[in-house]
Amino acid sequence: MTRPKTKILVDGGDPQETQRVKELLGFVDGQTTNPSLIANNPHIRELVASGHKLSNREEMDEYKKIVQTISPLVSDAGVSIEVFSDESTTAPEMLDQGREMFSWIPNAYIKYPCTAEGFRAAQLSVVQGMRINMTLCFSQQQAAAVYAATKGTKQPAYVSLFVGRLDDIGQNGMEVVKNIKQMFQKGDGHVLVLAASIRSLEHLLYCFALETELVTVPAKVLEIWANRGFPIPDKQFQYKASAKSIPYEELNLERPWETFDLQHELTRKGIEKFAADYRATLSRPA
Ligand code: E4P
Repeated sequence: MTRPKTKILVDGGDPQETQRVKELLGFVDGQTTNPSLIANNPHIRELVASGHKLSNREEMDEYKKIVQTISPLVSDAGVSIEVFSDESTTAPEMLDQGREMFSWIPNAYIKYPCTAEGFRAAQLSVVQGMRINMTLCFSQQQAAAVYAATKGTKQPAYVSLFVGRLDDIGQNGMEVVKNIKQMFQKGDGHVLVLAASIRSLEHLLYCFALETELVTVPAKVLEIWANRGFPIPDKQFQYKASAKSIPYEELNLERPWETFDLQHELTRKGIEKFAADYRATLSRPA
């Protein structure tokens, strides 16, 4: 297999699945998790189905065990671990969780949402030397804010752009990835684009064609890629999008992060869904 320049991460919450993908590809660069994927981990599902709902501490301990099992399976793109947040979670609360999660494994990236509180937590985290992954990003403006909030980070920060969820609302998610890549060409390289919410082989191949730095992919899409013989797109590759085009915006990356438009309806909905999935596993909802 010719390895793409793009680093491949497994999008999931089950170490056995990561191991299977590793056997299929021969490597796994990294892993992303989120509260929905952790709630869907087979062991957590079994516990909940047998009537044992978890305390907050048990949930954290289970999450820790999962990422500690995945950590040695992946190489240098690390394991992304997401803090629990809802609309009322403050930056210091996110930071407390982030600090604890960062201590779980040597290759952790802490995921904070692209909200004002998430950006505040990220800014404080990079000062403390933590690696971060800003999640639930749906726009070029939010990506510009990630750039501004993480200046000075020791290791490049990730911004997770959710392609499939933009497609779901009739917008061309891959075009936002392309626009963000273009915008970051003017930057200093401290933020890497991580294409997320990947639903199809076409998404994956276009990420390779755009040379996005990272892509996180569900096992089932990687299995399709493997079954087709691990194709790599050539220069002629055309991405067929039927969705609404999203124009490129000229943005000054030197502006303070607070001055960008941080709002996106899908960020709000995404937080709600992650919080609901997380709470569904708890005996006493957080
Ligand atoms: C990974 O970091 C994201 O949380 C994930 O790709 C979201 O995917 P989904 O839109 O399929 O839930």
